[in-house]
Amino acid sequence: MDYKKIIAERLKEHIELELEVIEKFIENPPKPEMGDYAFPCFQLAKTFRKAPNMIAEELVTKLNKEGFEKIETAGPYVNFFMDKGVFAQNTIEKILNEKDKYGSSEVGKGKSVTIDFSSPNIAKPFHVGHLFSTSIGNSLYKMLSFEGYNCIGINHLGDWGTQFGKLISAYKRWVDEDALEKEPIKELLRIYVKFHDEAEKDPSLEDEGRMYFKKLEDGCQEEVELWKRFKDLSLKEFEKVYEVLGVKFDSYAGESFYNDKMDAVIEEIKSKNLLVESNGAQVVMMEEENMPPCIIKKADGATIYATRDLAAAFYRKNNYDFYKSIYVVGSDQSLHFKQVFKVIEKMGYDWANDCKHVAFGLVRFADRKLSTRKGQVIFLEELLNEAVAKTKEVIEEKNPQLENKEEVAQKVGIGAVIFTYLKNRREKDIVFKWDEMLNFEGETGPYVQYTYARGKSILRRAGESTGEADFSKLSSTEEFELIKVLGNFNEEILDGIDKLEPSIVTRYVIDVAKAFNKFYNAHNIMATEEQSVKNARLKMVEATCQVIKNALSLLSIEVVEKM
Ligand code: ARG
Repeated sequence: MDYKKIIAERLKEHIELELEVIEKFIENPPKPEMGDYAFPCFQLAKTFRKAPNMIAEELVTKLNKEGFEKIETAGPYVNFFMDKGVFAQNTIEKILNEKDKYGSSEVGKGKSVTIDFSSPNIAKPFHVGHLFSTSIGNSLYKMLSFEGYNCIGINHLGDWGTQFGKLISAYKRWVDEDALEKEPIKELLRIYVKFHDEAEKDPSLEDEGRMYFKKLEDGCQEEVELWKRFKDLSLKEFEKVYEVLGVKFDSYAGESFYNDKMDAVIEEIKSKNLLVESNGAQVVMMEEENMPPCIIKKADGATIYATRDLAAAFYRKNNYDFYKSIYVVGSDQSLHFKQVFKVIEKMGYDWANDCKHVAFGLVRFADRKLSTRKGQVIFLEELLNEAVAKTKEVIEEKNPQLENKEEVAQKVGIGAVIFTYLKNRREKDIVFKWDEMLNFEGETGPYVQYTYARGKSILRRAGESTGEADFSKLSSTEEFELIKVLGNFNEEILDGIDKLEPSIVTRYVIDVAKAFNKFYNAHNIMATEEQSVKNARLKMVEATCQVIKNALSLLSIEVVEKM
């Protein structure tokens, strides 16, 4: 039920303004005695040639009041008080009719959005930052799709660059084949680190690395095959994480995909007189923008990360004709994206403004140090495993009788990690603290999942509800507050899309759980005397569970029926 729209439509019958304009003026009053919605009349004074409070009086006498408890004036404001019973019925019935679709819309219909997310580097660990990008990107993908956008999830793998020449050299010298099969990323990382150590003593190794990369670029069979093998082995490891998190991509076009697509872009930059030489390198100057030059080609003629991102941006525009192109990457790459988008703008394409860097902060752990690159490999798997193990301990303690404890611990544990990533504004740094993350009473994933399971348990105890439901009695403060929150779901998702902030959905689902628990603590549902009121309350519980389930699914968190 979109009450703002209904109110705007009623007002429009008496005001000559666009519907959207009227809707924008409608406010949410700060106090309940001022009504649920308010319309200020100041801006009408000119056209009506009357004082705002006179206009308010006039409107109130004329307005169609059906479905409202009352509509009255307070000075220059028209205050709308919803009929709580009608509101409760409309909202709950809408949720129970639309089920898994409740909250969705078609606002994005016909619009494509490319989402570049996760994007780990081949032969390097998938670290906690990539998990951050993966959680945000996956959630934005789901939110946008839910609102009708056509999403293209792109894993822009770091699978190209001079480091692969070094890796081939290291492989030929020091690889342990057994280790490579067993723990590929660890072994690749080991020999890569060794290469750097050895190259310090013997700089000719660097030349060897460059030579192998040249061969790789030229398509020499042996080098290409090795590179493919590194890539396959790494991808297999990454897939494990994606599987656990329920993440899918529409494209795995990584950096190497743009090898044969960079020349055309470089030519165009040149033809537009944007390319200049600086210390032997080819760059686009950004003095006016107060940024360092964007390097397109290094002095040795090699292309870099930015060159590939430029080629990727054009490829995406031409191939997907995006409405928005989003890049979910840490804020440490802000300058890089500013430069890339600026080059596109300088080339004369205004769609540069549709490219958005969705930045996020750093991840820290309260109970351990985490800085060595090596530590990070182990840590990600450890992090997820530990989350599951610790959740199991909590379940053992709280509900030892529970069936399928493993499965529940898996969903709740992984959910707790994702929830932690998505709980605060993405640019804020995160500190992982187990006892906070797994607290069933805090603002956590387990708290929300527990609330869902609690609702489900009430519904199981009540059995099939039959008979009529009297929604007009759902008028206590707790009930009204809960239903209001339930009714806001779509608006909140759209706000989250607008700001590219999954945390808006996360905060929302916390609010739903809180409002439900307030109601649950104030009223004993099962002891409700009048059957028709009890039925209405049970429907409200069912609707709450449905909204929690829908909201969590946008965060890629699964619900459990019991916990
Ligand atoms: N591979 C990069 C990293 O790990 C992230 C790539 C992000 N996407 C992009 N189009 N640059 O830092």
